Amino acid sequence: MSVRKILKMGRQLLLEESEPITEFNTPELHQLIADLWETMKATDGAGLAAPQIGVLKRVVVFGYDKDYHPENMAEIPATVLINPKLTPLTEEFEERWEGCLSIPGMRGAVPRYTKVRIEAYDVTGKPFSCDAEGFHARVAQHECDHLDGILYPMRMLDLDCFGFNDAFEEDEQAERAD
Ligand code: NI
Repeated sequence: MSVRKILKMGRQLLLEESEPITEFNTPELHQLIADLWETMKATDGAGLAAPQIGVLKRVVVFGYDKDYHPENMAEIPATVLINPKLTPLTEEFEERWEGCLSIPGMRGAVPRYTKVRIEAYDVTGKPFSCDAEGFHARVAQHECDHLDGILYPMRMLDLDCFGFNDAFEEDEQAERAD
């Protein structure tokens, strides 16, 4: 396992479409998944997609386990999705703050479906599916977007709600002081 370099927005590779996994249970696939977990945890992320470490394969990881719980984060089970397909289960969407390890120090308000069905394969090639709501559904949509070369600012409706975390915090502090 190793912590890999995370590509930042501006790299062409992040805008490309990733290839499906065709061979399961290989040492390379196990290694890729291990590296994604290691890199995600080293950077306090909620999820990470293979293209973010420079690998154009349809693999994402997200969620937390008992040993890894960043503060203020909803409990989402540790999940590996290979060749995922998401289907909205509602037409309803909501805008909430998101960040991305490829856009460090920034956040934006992004509209996402509030409920989605996730269909994917596990590392052995076994298909599975589950339904996700709220923050869980949001993280799944964010990570799967990476596989199609979509970064969250490309989903935003209002760029007034895009900026640096420390800048938003300065305004919040000023408001509290008033
Ligand atoms: Ni991201």
